[in-house]
Formats: sequence, structure tokens, C-alpha cells
Amino acid sequence: MRILVLGGTVFLSHAVAVEALARGHRVSCLARGVSGSVPAGARLLVADRDSPGALAAAVGGESFDAVVDVATMSLPWVSEALAALAGAVAHWTFISSINVYADKATPGQGVDAPLLSPYVSSAGAATPAVDPDLYGAAKVASENAVLSALGERAFVVRAGLLVGPGDPHDRFGYWPARFSRGGRAIVPDALDQPLQYLDVRDLAAWVVSAAERGLGGVFDGAGPRRTLGEVLRGIASAVGGSVGEASADVPGVGGLPPDVPGVGGLPREASAVGGLPGEAEPDAPEPDAPEPDAPEPGGPAVGGPEGGAPALELVAASPSALLDAGVTPWAGPRSLPLWLPPTHHGFLSRDTSPALAAGLTARPLAASASDALAYERSLGLDRPRRAGLSAADEADLLTRLT
Ligand SMILES: NC(=O)c1ccc[n+]([C@@H]2O[C@H](COP(=O)([O-])OP(=O)(O)OC[C@H]3O[C@@H](n4cnc5c(N)ncnc54)[C@H](OP(=O)(O)O)[C@@H]3O)[C@@H](O)[C@H]2O)c1
Repeated sequence: MRILVLGGTVFLSHAVAVEALARGHRVSCLARGVSGSVPAGARLLVADRDSPGALAAAVGGESFDAVVDVATMSLPWVSEALAALAGAVAHWTFISSINVYADKATPGQGVDAPLLSPYVSSAGAATPAVDPDLYGAAKVASENAVLSALGERAFVVRAGLLVGPGDPHDRFGYWPARFSRGGRAIVPDALDQPLQYLDVRDLAAWVVSAAERGLGGVFDGAGPRRTLGEVLRGIASAVGGSVGEASADVPGVGGLPPDVPGVGGLPREASAVGGLPGEAEPDAPEPDAPEPDAPEPGGPAVGGPEGGAPALELVAASPSALLDAGVTPWAGPRSLPLWLPPTHHGFLSRDTSPALAAGLTARPLAASASDALAYERSLGLDRPRRAGLSAADEADLLTRLT
């Protein structure tokens, strides 16, 4: 197949291009080419989608069997791509987000749940980091445009939290990186919190399969329903060997209050970036980031603690104590990634049975954890992070909270 990926230099769109090439497809990627490289074997069509007419000029009337668009915030980008390409294409994937849903709190919702009102703007890409609802609303408008233009040829995937090699957000990777160092690691005492994530390579495989099969429809693209505790313990055992857990009689540690006081009002930094805060951030990867497709899927496991690392102990600190100490849920500096308050649990517990029935598969947690650790090590475990606690912050919190 001739596949056009609108993107291809970053994380998901790059992984889609890698997967399509591995299956023998002819892959073109359209991007500015400033955020990274397209995978070897793919052709780069250089265009700035903020420049009207640039996409059509770069495509030059060529037709494709399938298009994959990851446009984050911009209905004009989507509309222009549809005008240039939709008429002659057999299959169109649009990567949306579970941020389209109006109810962020209720667990177990499916794709028929109420959506935000579409945000229709003639402006170029908006800045998503400042308004999470705008991000979701812009995705709704883009979904509508794709579905209207393509009908049954449209495959709309509302992605949940994506993890894996090349992740520019530093969230999931914080935990394998932290646990590999052993010692006393602060975790939020919210281990029953629902949590869903999907390895980016599994979503990429499903997207390429959908194009091959002509699968249409609207799906939530999220992984198995787990809890934060299952995920953290699974990561710990994948990368850190034996795990101890702190007793709950340490002051400020353990004993999650039933209503999690103080968590309902997320600190501004967290709430400002949405229900799946941060995935829409338009930041480029670190300039010295390696190619995001390393390590290759199926490569050797690279888990294991740092040489001589002390035994890992998970120290569960109450959400209210963490918030009082200025720790942010989910993402950002001085955060504990993947922790979200009950007001946002609907984001982390979607009903994905339709996606599973339609061919989505998820690799084992241990594989995602060990590959994320390999990627973290390639970036440098001591680098300034976009999400998580620095070693100094964590040491300070351990002193203050325990
Ligand atoms: N990460 C998550 O957890 C998560 C969760 C839910 C949904 N999602 C969705 O998943 C998708 C992620 O896509 P992604 O991983 O490929 O990352 P992305 O950051 O959305 O990358 C988008 C691509 O767009 C290109 N691009 C950016 N600005 C451009 C411009 N002005 N003109 C042309 N191309 C431009 C980039 O290349 P250049 O910069 O080189 O041009 C890059 O290849 C998004 O739709 C996001 O909303 C992500």
C-alpha cells in the first residue's frame, strides 16, 4: 500500500511509519522535519501545515491508499488535508483523544458517551497546553470533519495515555527510571486508582492493520484496565527486582483518606493541561534525543536495577500531603506521573472491548517497562525531566513527609 503519514517525525506518527515500513508498505511522511527524522525507508514531504496550500503543494496531486493524520489541535489542518486527499483515498485514520469526552470522572464509559461541543476555528494550530477542553473540543471538530468527508472509510481512534520508546512527555518512563535506582521511592497512596495506558507500538500496529483491512468506525484506543498499584508494582518487578512497601504508620504515609481531600481542585499546572494532561503539548523533543524507535520491538529485555542499587522500597504518601508539599499529579515538573484524582478517573478506565474485538492488542507490562527503561537510559537518567520528581525533590519530600 501507499501510505501517507501526516507527521512521522515524532512518537506515534513515527511509530506508525516504522510499522508500515516493516510490513512492506511504501511510506511517505509529511511534516516540517524539525522535530526529528522520519524512519529510514520513508520519504519526507516537507510542508508547514500552518502555511495555507503547503500540504497540497507538497503532495502535488499524488494519491495514496491510506492516510494517517495525527493533527493535534487544528481543524484547518484537517480540513485542508481532507480537501487535498480524501477524494482518492481508500482509508483515513484520524488520531483523536479521549479528551473529547465531556464526563472526565465516570469510569467505564464507551464511545457513545457525550462529547464536548466542537471547537471550530479558522485559525491555525491553537496552543493546547493552556486549555484542556479546547484540545478535546478541537479534536471533536476534526473528528466530525473526517467522518463527514470519509464516512465508512474513516477510522477514528480516541487515544488514551500512550507510552513507549520515543515518548516526549517523560511520564510513564519516570517510574522505570526511578525504580531502577532502588532505595526509597515515593508513590502516591492512591494505588487503587484506575489506570490505562497503551504502548505506542501497539497502537501503531493497530492503525496499520486497520488501513490494510479497511476497518472503519470510532474507537477508544486505550490499553487494559488496571490500577495504578498494579502498574507500579509491575514496573518495579520488571526493572528493579524485589520490592518492599512502607508501613502505613509512618506520619504522612499511607492511609488514603476516602475522599482524597485537597485533590478535587487540581493545581493549576496539572489542570491546565487537560484530562490526559500533556499529550497535546507541542514541544519538540530534546535536541539530543536519539531516534525514537530504539530499541526495536522484540529486542532484548534491558530491565534490571542499576549496578549496586539498594533494594527498592515504595513509600506511599497521602495525596493531600503530596499536594500540600507542592507535588503535582500526572505530569510536569515536581510531579508524580500517572497519578490523577477521582475527578479524572473516567480518563483512565475506558471500555475498550470494541477496540479489542476489532484487533487492538497490548503487549505485556513488563515489555513496555523494560523498553521504556532502555529509552530512559538512552536519554540519560539524570537529565532534567519534563515529568516526575528530581532526586533532590524526592529526598526533600522523604524528609518532610516521613
Ligand atoms: N501521547 C499521548 O499520550 C496521547 C494521548 C492521546 C492522544 N494523543 C494524540 O496522538 C497524536 C500524537 O502524535 P505524535 O506522537 O506523532 O506527536 P505529535 O507531537 O502530535 O507530532 C505530530 C507530527 O506533526 C508534525 N508537525 C508539527 N507541526 C507541524 C506543522 N506546522 N506542519 C507540518 N507538520 C507538523 C511533527 O513534525 P515536525 O515538527 O517535524 O513538522 C510531527 O511529526 C496526537 O494526535 C495526539 O493528540 C496522544
